[in-house]
Amino acid sequence: MSTISEFELLAQEAAGCVKCPLSEGRTNVVFGAGSPQADVMFIGEAPGFHEDQQGLPFVGRSGNLLTKLCGEIGIEREDVYIANILKCRPPENRDPLPSEIETCTPYLDRQIDLIQPIVVVTLGNFATKYLLQTTAGITTIRGRRFRWRDATLIPTLHPAAALRGGATRLAEMREDFQTILRTIEHVRTAKHEAAFSDVSDDLTPQPIS
Ligand code: URA
Repeated sequence: MSTISEFELLAQEAAGCVKCPLSEGRTNVVFGAGSPQADVMFIGEAPGFHEDQQGLPFVGRSGNLLTKLCGEIGIEREDVYIANILKCRPPENRDPLPSEIETCTPYLDRQIDLIQPIVVVTLGNFATKYLLQTTAGITTIRGRRFRWRDATLIPTLHPAAALRGGATRLAEMREDFQTILRTIEHVRTAKHEAAFSDVSDDLTPQPIS
């Protein structure tokens, strides 16, 4: 007899969620994908059309870029966990509303508590502002490393911004992914403290001015 894990229970709870009006327009709840044992977690904004259709995060154009950038630094999607701030697609892919973020993020908070990632990558403004509780824009703080709970958090651009922003934005994302790679390498050699030794950024968790 197999027992249902706390993580699966949480996914089931989210699958039936009707806490906000986004539930009325969704095809699928996009809870997340990947290994709940992952050391590395990517957090995006909200499902788009393809994600809503398939019930999986980052499977459209942005997802293709994310998968490509991960591949360039030797990361397979199956080895990380990918989730979003919102679990349901906002109409016309509009920005998440503050009320939707407030209602939905307890699911993300519990996902993070259960996964306990060592490296957290926030993709774009919404994830970065929520986790770091900062008002700083993503272009200002991208690529820096922050001590966040027991993890190292690295904000980078949302892949959609890189797709819109052309070569410059893409190059910035590639630069950030090198930082992600270096950080993963450090923590994987079980020297978590060493991950911070060459960092000159402000590692104060929050608030950040
Ligand atoms: N953009 C996101 O932020 N998340 C997805 O899952 C897809 C596109």
